[in-house]
Amino acid sequence: MAHAPVVVSVNHKGGTGKTTTSRVLAQALASLPKYNKGKPILSVDLDPQGNTSRRWKLMTPNDDGVSVPIPHPELDGQNSSICDLWLNLLDQSKPNLAPEPYETSNPMIHVVPANEELMYEMIGIEKAKRPLMGRAMREWLRSADIYEKYSYVIIDTPPSKAALNEAALAAATHTYIPFIPEPQSVEGVFSIFSYLYAQQQQRSSNDPLVLLGFLPNLVQRTRLHNLHLKQLRDHTNFSQHLMKVQLNRRIGYAETDDSLCQPDQVTDMVGTQIEFEANRFAKYIAERVRETMPGGL
Ligand SMILES: Nc1ncnc2c1ncn2[C@@H]1O[C@H](COP(=O)(O)OP(=O)(O)OP(=O)(O)O)[C@@H](O)[C@H]1O
Ligand SMILES: [Mg+2]
Repeated sequence: MAHAPVVVSVNHKGGTGKTTTSRVLAQALASLPKYNKGKPILSVDLDPQGNTSRRWKLMTPNDDGVSVPIPHPELDGQNSSICDLWLNLLDQSKPNLAPEPYETSNPMIHVVPANEELMYEMIGIEKAKRPLMGRAMREWLRSADIYEKYSYVIIDTPPSKAALNEAALAAATHTYIPFIPEPQSVEGVFSIFSYLYAQQQQRSSNDPLVLLGFLPNLVQRTRLHNLHLKQLRDHTNFSQHLMKVQLNRRIGYAETDDSLCQPDQVTDMVGTQIEFEANRFAKYIAERVRETMPGGL
């Protein structure tokens, strides 16, 4: 059955740009009718830190100071998060539910927020139950309902190898690894590459997990960055995975992360270098997704 592409940004190392690049990807795809065909992008925040959710002003501290989603306007004071899919795993008296995405100030971007409280419980769930998390996420994100409403699903993940990442990759059709061309970050890419390879081996040929590639992020014109990019370009096995696009270190990316920014300022990049770079990145991803989507888009 046809379903929406599910693109996951992943890296076990922190601070390499999983959140920023996935947000920029969502924004750029949302602005490109050729790729979104008029259907919104669904952005899923799978990181208990909730950076993606916060960006869209969807988080609030509860009485214990833990971050939870704001009440959903259509759920009578209740909130919704990706953890709705796993309520029964946490408490057998509760049914699992389909998450209710939140609309944002950008009509072409809907968000399923994180829930710090429930996510830490999910991370601690017994190992035998972990595959059930991936199965539920996969079933929902690959459903006809999601396909009908959304052009792309983009998932932001936490910097770990734990249960939430496993669930994201079980649901994923495509993945990419943002990294900084510096020693530790490049070593991190090699380590996650083997992890992804193991995940790919568990998939059938008609349901591949496609690696879209390594995305150089926070790139600066320094000898160190040039050297590491060259080493990857010249590498026998890894050169084929190095993306032909990159995101440079630009203050505008960080500025749009500022919690003082209003959400609609996120899209305030028209005519800037950032818009050009982000669109180039999104087009590269969308073309590769189109080429590799089983059954086509
Ligand atoms: N291309 C860029 N130019 C400038 N700043 C950037 C760029 N990419 C990311 N940043 C900044 O670097 C920091 C880390 O980025 P980000 O939060 O996206 O990384 P992450 O991999 O999601 O981190 P974590 O592992 O903690 O979730 C943020 O402050 C972000 O604003
Ligand atoms: Mg992040």
